[in-house]
Amino acid sequence: VPSQASNVWKKFSNQNKFERKLYHYGSFPQGFSWGVSSSAYQIEGGWNADGKMPSIWDTFTHNSTSIPGNADGNVSCDSYHRVDEDLYMLRALRVKSYRFSLSWSRIFPDGRHTSLNQKGVDYYNRLLDGLVAYNITPMVTLYYWDLPQALQDLGGWENADTINIFNEFCDFCFSTFGDRVKFWMTFNQPQTIAWSGYGLGQFPPNVKNPGTAPYRVAHNLIKAHAKAYHTYDDKYRKSQGGLVSIALNADWVEPKDVNVPRELMAADRALQFQLGWFAHPIFKNGDYPDAMKWQVGNKSELQTLSESRLPSFNEEEKSFIRGTADVFCINHYTTKIVHHATLRDLSETEEAWGLRRLLSWIKEEYGDPEIYITENGVATDTKTTYDDSARVFYYKTYVDEALKAHNLDGVNVKGYIATSLMDSFEWLNGYKVGFGFHHVDFTNPNLPRTPKYSAHFYYQVIKNNGFPM
Ligand code: NOJ
Repeated sequence: VPSQASNVWKKFSNQNKFERKLYHYGSFPQGFSWGVSSSAYQIEGGWNADGKMPSIWDTFTHNSTSIPGNADGNVSCDSYHRVDEDLYMLRALRVKSYRFSLSWSRIFPDGRHTSLNQKGVDYYNRLLDGLVAYNITPMVTLYYWDLPQALQDLGGWENADTINIFNEFCDFCFSTFGDRVKFWMTFNQPQTIAWSGYGLGQFPPNVKNPGTAPYRVAHNLIKAHAKAYHTYDDKYRKSQGGLVSIALNADWVEPKDVNVPRELMAADRALQFQLGWFAHPIFKNGDYPDAMKWQVGNKSELQTLSESRLPSFNEEEKSFIRGTADVFCINHYTTKIVHHATLRDLSETEEAWGLRRLLSWIKEEYGDPEIYITENGVATDTKTTYDDSARVFYYKTYVDEALKAHNLDGVNVKGYIATSLMDSFEWLNGYKVGFGFHHVDFTNPNLPRTPKYSAHFYYQVIKNNGFPM
């Protein structure tokens, strides 16, 4: 049975190619949260400064030979030493919010609270105080892929003890930074952590076991998320009044032929495996989507002879997990066209209409939550120092589709966070491509940041709360 939201494919299927590209324009309501994002490993550098210990991304990049230029995040944009420069850019853009992440091994170098590193805490205090002074709302991600290496040595996310250790870290961050931070995200893209880290094995810890490891890891990530949520709820919500969510990710998935039921089912399945894997337990009923249970879990006929590959939650766990997010945070970059029974996606399109449909799908599937688009952006060659017209076009069309979702389809979109503030360490692509509004000259030891054409464009979008009528 396709999920509740499958009417969304039908609803939009009559739109022809021309209609898809029509601009809507208009604006968002007052108070809309315009922002930019970054993450610790991508921008901070200072990989071993002042007591910080390695994370799994330090270990991986130091040993990998496959990243262009053998790049790593040792120095990157050196944001650890350049708080004022980062604040200056944020202020120049006039963003309402800034989404960044905390480096766990900077705060607790070996992962445990007993290793507290005050200098690391001081860094985030400087950043937070600056943001507050400029009236920029901090949106903080607690885990953006950089697990302390010391915890990986104990089994990392395959070890259920990590759930409690992560909770210790979250508890410390809530109590230390929660006077200024009112918007928390536990994990960034847990699907990427599970799939790229334990299925494809391209991201650290580079486990290539697509059959079972991603499902076991995701199971622990979901429990860890729920536990941190409850810690906030029990100990801090009343006094601090903030909210907690998790930044999930999804491409839009368009069936090759919407009128062929099994093609539509294939698209639905793809969305359930990417987004529903985490969103269904957290936003619906504490449990995995049926599409996953049929495919890799205990409902599958293929599984009758062997054990289910999908772990299950007991009733107590389900009620602990259900409802553990106050708003829906979604990272979105692109659209995939899919076809039943092929292992590969047919093609990819960066046409922005996928965002509008995804937002409608989330509204239908998860009961009309408040939605923050927490990442959206496009890469260009880092040699491009100013004229990133491709990025301007990308944002123009994507922001416009977010406006259509809000103004025409009634989707409760509350914020739009563009990726990214500046070019930075782009994971497996090193410094070859960048998503930034600002160019960073990585060949110059002063790491000068310069606004690109898109920075001027985004400034106008923020100023107009959308587009001028
Ligand atoms: C999503 C990740 O969250 C972000 O860090 C990254 O820069 C983009 N993907 C682009 O690869």
